[in-house]
Amino acid sequence: MTKVDVLLGLQWGDEGKGKIVDVLTPKYDVIARFQGGPNAGHTLEFNGIKHVLRTIPSGIFHTDKVNVIGNGVLIEPKIFRQEVEALREKNVDPTQNLYISKKAHLILPTHRLMDAANEQAKGNAKIGSTLKGIGPAYTDKIARTGLRVGDILEFDFKERFMMQKYQHVQTAKMLGFDVENFRLEGLTLDEYEAAWFEALETLKSFKLINSEYFINKCLKEDKKVLAEGAQGSMLDIDFGSYPFVTSSNTVTAGVCSGLGVAPTNIGRVMGITKAYCTRVGAGPFPTELFDETGRTLCEQGHEFGSVTGRPRRCGWIDLPALRYVCMLNGVSDLFVTKPDVMNNFDEVSMCTHYEIDGQQTDEIPFEFNAVEIKPVLKNFAGWKQGLAGISDYSALPQRLKDYISAIEEETGVKVCAVSTSPDRKDVLFK
Ligand code: GDP
Ligand code: IMO
Ligand code: MG
Repeated sequence: MTKVDVLLGLQWGDEGKGKIVDVLTPKYDVIARFQGGPNAGHTLEFNGIKHVLRTIPSGIFHTDKVNVIGNGVLIEPKIFRQEVEALREKNVDPTQNLYISKKAHLILPTHRLMDAANEQAKGNAKIGSTLKGIGPAYTDKIARTGLRVGDILEFDFKERFMMQKYQHVQTAKMLGFDVENFRLEGLTLDEYEAAWFEALETLKSFKLINSEYFINKCLKEDKKVLAEGAQGSMLDIDFGSYPFVTSSNTVTAGVCSGLGVAPTNIGRVMGITKAYCTRVGAGPFPTELFDETGRTLCEQGHEFGSVTGRPRRCGWIDLPALRYVCMLNGVSDLFVTKPDVMNNFDEVSMCTHYEIDGQQTDEIPFEFNAVEIKPVLKNFAGWKQGLAGISDYSALPQRLKDYISAIEEETGVKVCAVSTSPDRKDVLFK
């Protein structure tokens, strides 16, 4: 009997999960997504190819491996169809090695309408959602009114769809939203709905399964399963910077409910952090830099959202937040990505503590959004050296290794590998 290993983001998303999962896939038999939906954008780069995945696990380019979309994931059929077509353009046909849970919930076109209506109603307090319908679809799941992948095979699917649609449209109107002029990818709601129904045919061409049985059978047969997280722990619905979060449990606990894995069957928990920190959308970000350094991180790191294209906010690595999520996730191994972005920095800093009302703390306060937090910084001399061509951890500049050791000391977790470029080949295991 094997256990499920987990790989998840420890910050506010975009830590490089897609790349690392792709690199780890040869060691596994099955790669499974357990939460989130097309709000995710996971980038893979190899052999000059750059590809962004949304709902499909990042093991998909390894055609001999099985990929699973678990029950905890949300599927938007039209976006999913585009994803499948984009893979086919790269000569990858996922129909044989991608299995989908019948219990995964569907994102309806009107969930996206509701997302837009909710954000508009929030005004200045808006979350900065990716507007993919995530919040409204999970709301329906919890309210026990959602539609699931398995339901598309049922005779009364259209009827249930229309009932949901009616309720969403009414609610959006009540919120004062201009439903008539709402457009999705340039289409009216009716046009989009027609394309959405067509896309269900693509979904039907996949193996729709009870993925909890499949995953547990794999474990019994000693197959190796890797659970791929989406978003980051600081966007977790319970522990993130609420309400500026996504609507799922992005922490390790989400693997249990999102795949049907018992807590006793969780193995290693690999957490990814950038060597600095980014956030896209609104919400607290204590180490955010508003100066030239912040702009340099954004430019050098190409920090623009892979889903929305929005510039990501950039700042120093936040150790109080990192310690917090290492605790919540039970992180056993750390991956550090993108130190190369800081190659030319004279000095790099990390935030070791927060100062709130003149008091130092390393606890994330309940009033995270409301209080003024001053980051207490520790400075390090920059390594001032390119990392291209370095293929061995020991050959990394000593100052970078010192910086990595400080992350280990401050979090109490060992770093197992460092990533030094977007490409699959540049992951240096320790
Ligand atoms: P994910 O959502 O966690 O999979 O991350 P994204 O794909 O949204 O964002 C990470 C970005 O950084 C992508 O453009 C990757 O190609 C890129 N990337 C990943 N690792 C590295 C690295 O070590 N160095 C650099 N410079 N870029 C990286
Ligand atoms: P990956 O998997 C970064 C952010 C949004 C917004 C908040 C809520 O690529 O790391 P939602 O669409 O879920 O209602 O948005 O969460 N967000 C992400 N930020 N990476 C992601 O995914 C994200 N998914 C959602 O920007 O602030
Ligand atoms: Mg991303």
